[in-house]
This record gives sequence, C-alpha cells and structure tokens, in this order.
Amino acid sequence: MNTPLSFLGIAGSLRRGSYNRAALRAAVHLVPPDVMLRTFDIGGLPLYNQDDESAPPPAVIELKRAIRAADAIVLASPEYNYSIPGVLKNAIDWASRPYGDSAWEGKPVALLGASVGAFGAIRAQYHLRQAFVFLNMHPVNQPEVAIANAAKVFTSDGSLEDETTRQRIAELLRALADLAHRLGAERARPPSASTPRHGVTVTG
Ligand SMILES: Cc1cc2nc3c(=O)[nH]c(=O)nc-3n(C[C@H](O)[C@H](O)[C@H](O)COP(=O)(O)O)c2cc1C
Repeated sequence: MNTPLSFLGIAGSLRRGSYNRAALRAAVHLVPPDVMLRTFDIGGLPLYNQDDESAPPPAVIELKRAIRAADAIVLASPEYNYSIPGVLKNAIDWASRPYGDSAWEGKPVALLGASVGAFGAIRAQYHLRQAFVFLNMHPVNQPEVAIANAAKVFTSDGSLEDETTRQRIAELLRALADLAHRLGAERARPPSASTPRHGVTVTG
C-alpha cells in the first residue's frame, strides 16, 4: 500500500462562477483513494512587491506553508491573452521568493485548464511549464487536460458531469500521485553527486 499523499490545488481565476474553480472542485472528488486534495484561494494575496519579501504579508506566509506541507500541486487555470492570468503569476512569484527560499522547489505539479474557447487554456499551460523549469518543479507531462468550450462542459451550477473530462482529470491525478511517489522514493535514497540546481549554464 502507498503512503497517503496530500495535494494542494490552486485555481488561476477569482471569478465566482469560474470554470477552473469548478474543475478544481470536481478534482477534489476524483483523486485516487490514498490522496487528499485541499485548495488554497489566492484571492487574498496582495500584489507582489519585492520590498516586502523580507517581511511577507500573512497571506503569503500561509500560501508558502500550504505549498510546503503538500506532496504535490494541482493548478487549474484559464488562459488570459494566450498566457498565465496575472493573479496566478502573482501567487507563483510570491511563493518563489526570496531567492533561495522558494516553496515550489522540487514539487511535482499537474496542470489542467478550462476555457470558453476551442483550445482549453493550453497556451497558458505551456507558459506555466516554462516557469517550472526555473522553479525546479516536476510537471506531469501526460495526460494534458485542456477543457475546451467550458460553457458546454460544465452545468449552469458549476458541476462537471461530462464523463470523458472527469476520467481525464482522474487520470491526471493518478499520474501526479505516481510521480509524487517516485520522487519521494528518489529523495529517500542518498544523493550520488551534487549538481548545480539553478540557472542556465551557457558555454562557448
Ligand atoms: C482578460 C481575459 C483574457 C482572455 N484570454 C483568453 C485567451 O487567450 N484564450 C482563451 O481561450 N480564452 C480567453 N479568455 C476567455 C476565458 O477562457 C474565459 O473567460 C474563462 O471563462 C475564464 O476562466 P474562468 O471561467 O475559470 O474564470 C479571456 C478572458 C479574459 C477575462
């Protein structure tokens, strides 16, 4: 039997009727049996200001604590202008600072996104994957969960009854649990060699 895991879910939309928040609510009930998914609302975070890094606001301390307590992260985000919504980028930036004290370090992460358009927020997901390189996070590559035409997939009260989408999210969460278990087992082994962890080495 696997060790129980704790996932932290964050939605990249603050909208009350948000499809991404609805997808995250659905995900809470689609996790594998040994997993608990809790959510964190990033609506209370102030705008990032580097002047406040050394004495961060309480909401930032709470966010970093929740991320650190989790075995893995689930991000459910819309795409704004082909990219990451500002509120989500703001949360990512806060929790990544100060330099050397990022709460995201080494975390496995799964992405899902819903959009009213035809591409299911996939472009924002690729921008997030780019940020994960520097954050040294471990994204689940497959399956990619891009919920297109969200207004048709979710009911008017925000429930997700579309069976294909539900199965896809369940598959993603299983893949995240597998990745978290694998990385946990790797961490438990003694390190073989020390390698540089941050930054790009440009040679030539
Ligand atoms: C500022 C803004 C920019 C948007 N840009 C995109 C976009 O680039 N691609 C897309 O598919 N939908 C875009 N949309 C539409 C969103 O898919 C739609 O508003 C969706 O419902 C947002 O997610 P939510 O329901 O979780 O709030 C945009 C919406 C807003 C408000």
